[in-house]
Amino acid sequence: MDPGMDPAMNPAMKPAMKPGPSPVPIARTTPNPLRTTIDIAPIDPKVTAFHARMPAYSPTMLFDVPMLATQLGVGRLLVKAETRRMGLPSFKILGASWATYRAICEHIGYEPEPWRNINELAANLEHLKPFKLATATDGNHGRAVAFMARLLGFSCHIYVPKGMVEARIQAIRSEGALVTVVDGTYDEAVARSAQEASDRCLVVSDTSWEGYETTPARVIEGYSTIFHEIDDAIDASGLRHPDIVVIPMGVGAFMAAGVSHYRANAGKAVIVGVEPLDANCVQVSALAGEITAVQGPHNSIMVGLNCGMPSLTAWPRLSKGIDWFASVDDEAACQAMRDLAAVGIVSGETGAAGLAGFEALIRDDDFRSSTDLANATVLVVVTEGATDPEHYEQVVGRGHETIGRVITAVRA
Ligand SMILES: Cc1ncc(COP(=O)(O)O)c(C=O)c1O
Repeated sequence: MDPGMDPAMNPAMKPAMKPGPSPVPIARTTPNPLRTTIDIAPIDPKVTAFHARMPAYSPTMLFDVPMLATQLGVGRLLVKAETRRMGLPSFKILGASWATYRAICEHIGYEPEPWRNINELAANLEHLKPFKLATATDGNHGRAVAFMARLLGFSCHIYVPKGMVEARIQAIRSEGALVTVVDGTYDEAVARSAQEASDRCLVVSDTSWEGYETTPARVIEGYSTIFHEIDDAIDASGLRHPDIVVIPMGVGAFMAAGVSHYRANAGKAVIVGVEPLDANCVQVSALAGEITAVQGPHNSIMVGLNCGMPSLTAWPRLSKGIDWFASVDDEAACQAMRDLAAVGIVSGETGAAGLAGFEALIRDDDFRSSTDLANATVLVVVTEGATDPEHYEQVVGRGHETIGRVITAVRA
């Protein structure tokens, strides 16, 4: 707890009001039958230096959460809170910004140096206009691409699946983007956005398909900054590096960055991938032995994870590098949101999936017997803040702005 903080004054210390009795969460946990040794190509070290030139860049917080560690029966629980990143409520801007930059470099055939900040980069790219960025999204990636387009003075067209919550659509529009709601799933929105590619429009997708793999690979590279920041915070504080790493998965791009980091130099951390039960395409693919589509509709409240197909570019790292899968239902995500709120971390539905998956996994006897949980340092990445504030309040019992922090950062 922060020194000097009076627990009685802190709303996060009071139990969250629940709207009613919660059903028991349902989960499917399995080891990865495809796990094998994997050769990892090092990620371009220029990525983090690039992010340092982005507006409002600073490392996000890594929290040590003893209360939750005790509740879960693990030695230490570290939470990397990607709830605010360069002014946006998720980590996605790290991938979107680097991938956009690299796609532009490839489009013009050179690096538009020198530039020290985004305004100078925009000035160096003035000659491209009129110019457009496009992508599909289930929320955060699209907003991040729209944010990049606005900073560079480009127009932007974002395709979203049917049923996306209005607050998330408005957030993308607030970046100045045109939003088209596709009458179908996220995967159908991806197919629609791909048709935008032209001399005057770059498609900056975080998922990949045959013939479209370079930009999604850059998105994965962009996420590497998160793991470097975690290493820096751990090294600066003298803590142990994680024995177990828990990462939520949609198309698996973020997980691919995690695998690259934690499997480099034959790294042995146990890697856990978490998905919604009805969109668990990575788990289903691993159990099938090959990429396999999970048919929609995908209606989980973990909207960022509502994907029916793993990314082709990510797949080799997902299939070979992950140790355990946990697919969870919406109630598990809600419970994890409340557990995070109780320690002062505001997480949206998708953001809480990692903790939800770990809470499910520790009920799996095979997992428990394969791991020394009591002495393990567990890292959970919370990937998103309250992107649907109304639903957050329904789930947690109070508004996200009233949540007060009762933990301290490993390194501020
Ligand atoms: C908040 C959040 N967390 C996790 C993910 C999963 O990332 P990926 O699709 O790269 O697996 C997403 C994807 O949109 C997301 O928005």
